[in-house]
Amino acid sequence: MSHYPAFVKLVEVGPRDGLQNETTRVPASVKIGLIERLQQAGLQHLEVTSFVSPKWVPQMADNTEVMAGLVRRPGVVYSVLTPNLQGFEAALRTQPNEIVVFGSASEAFSQKNINCSVAESLDRFAPVVQAALAAGLRVRGVISCCVGCPYEGEVAPERVAKVAQGMKNMGVQHLGVADTIGVGTPLKIQRALGAALAHFSLADVSGHFHDTYGQALANTLAALAMGVQQFDTSVGGLGGCPYAKGATGNVATEDVVYLLHGMGIETGIDLDALIDAGAYIAEQLNRPTGSRVARALLAKRAG
Ligand code: HMG
Ligand code: MG
Repeated sequence: MSHYPAFVKLVEVGPRDGLQNETTRVPASVKIGLIERLQQAGLQHLEVTSFVSPKWVPQMADNTEVMAGLVRRPGVVYSVLTPNLQGFEAALRTQPNEIVVFGSASEAFSQKNINCSVAESLDRFAPVVQAALAAGLRVRGVISCCVGCPYEGEVAPERVAKVAQGMKNMGVQHLGVADTIGVGTPLKIQRALGAALAHFSLADVSGHFHDTYGQALANTLAALAMGVQQFDTSVGGLGGCPYAKGATGNVATEDVVYLLHGMGIETGIDLDALIDAGAYIAEQLNRPTGSRVARALLAKRAG
């Protein structure tokens, strides 16, 4: 057991990845209410919103309002997605602590998601990364489709390594390895992570696993066994990507917290308060939670 990390950091992506795919507009006040409850549960790193085209992702059009309305706590990192300089400049005015550039290991997904090739995306990211570092912000990169692509099928680890190297060269400080459509299984995930680890240190690589095929917890354990210490998770398992049809949400934060605490790994998160945050957003969306752990604990509470 000693090779598992003693502490794991969870980046809560529910307000961004979780809600971006909702077709009915979620009011900014509800997003802010969710963020507040997540902070109360002890989340120290939140992906708040994205500065992308409102024509492409209407749900994130209230990015500035959400950033202005959230109550900031000392030490908490507030991240936003910025695909280009236009998005970065708008984001900068809202004072995030971290920006995220998001590329893809697959060409087809890059075209569908951000309307350019993988090489063009790296050219676009470079000035964003440079400007963010100059402004004293942290810079994270995420690579989509690290094991499979909804348009191209299986994706080889070499393609992950190539994008990882491009991101490293431009100054990206931390790299997320994303299984966008949740098709990965533990050994494939380990190979994708290995490709990222050829260019980033263990402390600077995280897992971003969607749970479409129910593999995300197994994949999380496989990553933990490699010593990975950071994961993106979404309260209630909310989410999906508008450009990856049929893909469901990220692995639920509640499920990962339960897994980690059960293994004696600390997170700084209060599971009971997290269940409350998940119950709040489920009620707002008028939908049951996607977290198995939340369902079990809510049933226990009701009983
Ligand atoms: P484009 O059309 O190629 O951009 O879009 P453009 O530079 O040609 O500009 C066209 C129009 O977009 C112009 O407006 C620009 O002002 C506007 P118009 O003159 O037509 O009125 N525009 C913008 N508006 C607001 N913010 C911006 C911006 N940039 C241009 N930043 C772009 C390129 C990337 C903007 C577009 O393709 C886009 O917004 N895509 C959405 C991408 C997205 O949000 N996807 C979901 C998040 S990624 C994800 O979920 C995966 C992840 O979770 C990891 C995983 O699971 O894989 C991270
Ligand atoms: Mg995602």
